[in-house]
Order: sequence, then structure tokens, then C-alpha cells
Amino acid sequence: MPHIETVEIQNYRNHDYVQLNFKKGINVIWGENGSGKTAALEAVYTLSMGRSFRTRNHKETLKENSNKSSLRGVFNTSCAMREIKLNHLSTGQRRFFINGTAIKKTMDLIGKTPIVLLSPEEQIITKGSPGDRRDYFNKILSTISREYLKTLLIYQRLIKQRNFALRETRKRHINHTAITAWNEPVVIAGKKLWKLKTAIIDQIVHELQKINKKYVKEDIDLCLEFFPEGETETFKKRLERSLNSDIVKGRTTAGPHRDEYCFSFNGRLLRNFGSQGEHKLALVLIKMAEINTIKKATGKTPILMLDDFFAKLDFQRADSVLSLLNGEYQTIITTTDIVDIEKHGIDLKSENNASLHMERMCKA
Ligand SMILES: Nc1ncnc2c1ncn2[C@@H]1O[C@H](COP(=O)(O)OP(=O)(O)OP(=O)(O)O)[C@@H](O)[C@H]1O
Ligand SMILES: [Mg+2]
Repeated sequence: MPHIETVEIQNYRNHDYVQLNFKKGINVIWGENGSGKTAALEAVYTLSMGRSFRTRNHKETLKENSNKSSLRGVFNTSCAMREIKLNHLSTGQRRFFINGTAIKKTMDLIGKTPIVLLSPEEQIITKGSPGDRRDYFNKILSTISREYLKTLLIYQRLIKQRNFALRETRKRHINHTAITAWNEPVVIAGKKLWKLKTAIIDQIVHELQKINKKYVKEDIDLCLEFFPEGETETFKKRLERSLNSDIVKGRTTAGPHRDEYCFSFNGRLLRNFGSQGEHKLALVLIKMAEINTIKKATGKTPILMLDDFFAKLDFQRADSVLSLLNGEYQTIITTTDIVDIEKHGIDLKSENNASLHMERMCKA
């Protein structure tokens, strides 16, 4: 099973220097608020995905008043050891190295050691807008299929161009030919996206059903429904039919970019009716379905990182989730209180688990 063995963090966020040694099973990073637990997850995530999950501004991660930070991770990929390093200078220069060799594009890093992360920010997957869910699923689909990513980028550009033509037509009262010229390529790319998308979404739906069944301590029913905004066979006609309203609105109202994904929890729409704990539980289970889908499609088992795991989960539900984790994936959990973990009978002294403590720096 692929896993991370070590991470070394230098001049990153609040950390001067820290080295964390992980085990294959459950790893718990525990410590006070502000001790740098999320920062440690951010470092591991950056080594795997090439960027932080908290900011797009890399400079924010550099420890205040330092001009260089470095991260180093050792990943055991079942066939080989892979050392990934990042050197980051305050001038903005960032360079990744795989086994000592500098890589040309950060893209070359992605997907080699996939990570599935659950953080409080990710809760927008269940609480946020349809667009937030589309972004989430596009990310999974792109991780699994390069073909999907390539087609998505083409499709998004086409829709931008068609929307521009719609607004120009409205402004200048010109005829529709500039718009309809985009219909054909939009239809071709859109149909391809739906085809690639449906197969993977079906798999996620299936994995979620399996997880519902595995979650034995309580009967829950978490469902994902996918509503494509258009049909493959009639997509062209649909674009033609909605032409006038598209001109009024200045945007294309049908196509994969308008698809909707809905989660329901025990028969009720999660986004509108879910309690805080239901949202949290649903998100953990969705993330597990994501891991299993990625694992089946790519053959690589992602590492699962659960930031602030116990927040909002009651004892019984936290217990049920922890029993789903055992042995399935390498998991890194953060929590403020180690007692939370001990109460659930997880033996952190066992050879497969680890407990890693962090302390908040006191001002002198
Ligand atoms: N670039 C930076 N330089 C120095 N300190 C930073 C930098 N960025 C963030 N910090 C500080 O690092 C500390 C650690 O933040 P982090 O979010 O990792 O804490 P945490 O242990 O996850 O806390 P919590 O339990 O509240 O989630 C915070 O006090 C934050 O203000
Ligand atoms: Mg945190």
C-alpha cells in the first residue's frame, strides 16, 4: 500500500523545523490550536499535489521573516521509494525535485502519490453552491482521466467564446451566425465530457452505496444523484431552442457546465436540511467513495488526510467512521485532543499507528 514515511518541514508557516515519521495505518497529529497541525497536512499535500489547499499565494506559506522554506517527503510507493523535495525562495522561485532531479512542470508531480483531503474548507462540497460541487467532481474526474481534463479545458474555452458571441449579439443587434458557429464544437466536446463523466460518476455512486452498507452501526442512506443539464442525443437542438433566452442572459444555459449533483441524507436534501454533524459525516463518506473510485480507476491508493476530524461528529459516528478506516488506507488525522482518539480504542502504540504531538510556541 503506498504511503508517506516521513515529512521534513523547514521555515514553513509557524514551523522552524519539524520532522514527522508516519506509519502505514492511522497517524494522529495532535496539539493545541495554532500548533501547526493543519500546516503539517498542508506540507504533505503540497509535496503530492504541487500546491497548498489553503492558499494560491505560495508566499503566504513561507515562515514570516525567512527567505527560504523547504519541504521533503519520502513516499513508499510499493515498487520504489520516492523522495519529493520543494525549495521555495521568498523571491517567488519554487522548485520541485523527485529523487534529486528537478522537475520541469509541477503537473509532472500530480497523480503520482494522490491524496484525498477532508478539511473544514472542503465542507462546501455538501454545503456550497452547485458550482462548488461541479468543481469538486471535475477535480476527481480530472485526476482519474487525463482525457477528461483535456476535453474539459477545451469545452470551457468554447463556452467562454460562445458566451462572448451571445453578449456581442445582444449589444450590437447583429445576426446569430457568430453564435451558431460555436454550437457544433460545443456539442462535440460536451458529448465527450458527458460520456467520460457518466462512467466515473456511476462508479462513485456505486462506491457510496457500498460504504453505506459497510457503515454498520447505524442505518444511514447517503445518496448522490447526477442531473445532466442536457442530453447527448438532443444537445444540438437544445442549444438551438434556447438561443433567444441565451442571448438575453448572455450565457449558455445548457451543457455539462450546468450539470447538477445532489446529495441526500436519509431521504432529505443534504444541502438544505442537513445538520452540522450530518454534513460532516456525509463528507467523510464521500471522501472514502472518492478514494475507492480513484483506487479502482488508477490502481493507486490515495492517502487520506482528515483535518480536525472529531469536530462536529458525535462519539458513535466518529467511532463508526474510525472502524471503516482500519487498515484500508494510510490515514493522517489531526485533533486537538489525543483523548478523543484513545476513547475509540485505537492503539497508537501498535506498529501500524503513530501519535505525533505538536506544541504551540509561547511568546518569550
Ligand atoms: N507564514 C506564516 N508564518 C508564521 N506563522 C504562520 C504563517 N502562516 C500561519 N502561521 C501561524 O501558524 C499557526 C499554525 O496554524 P495551523 O492552522 O497549522 O494550526 P492548527 O494546529 O491546525 O490549529 P487549529 O487546531 O486551530 O486548527 C497559526 O498560529 C498561524 O497564525
Ligand atoms: Mg487546524
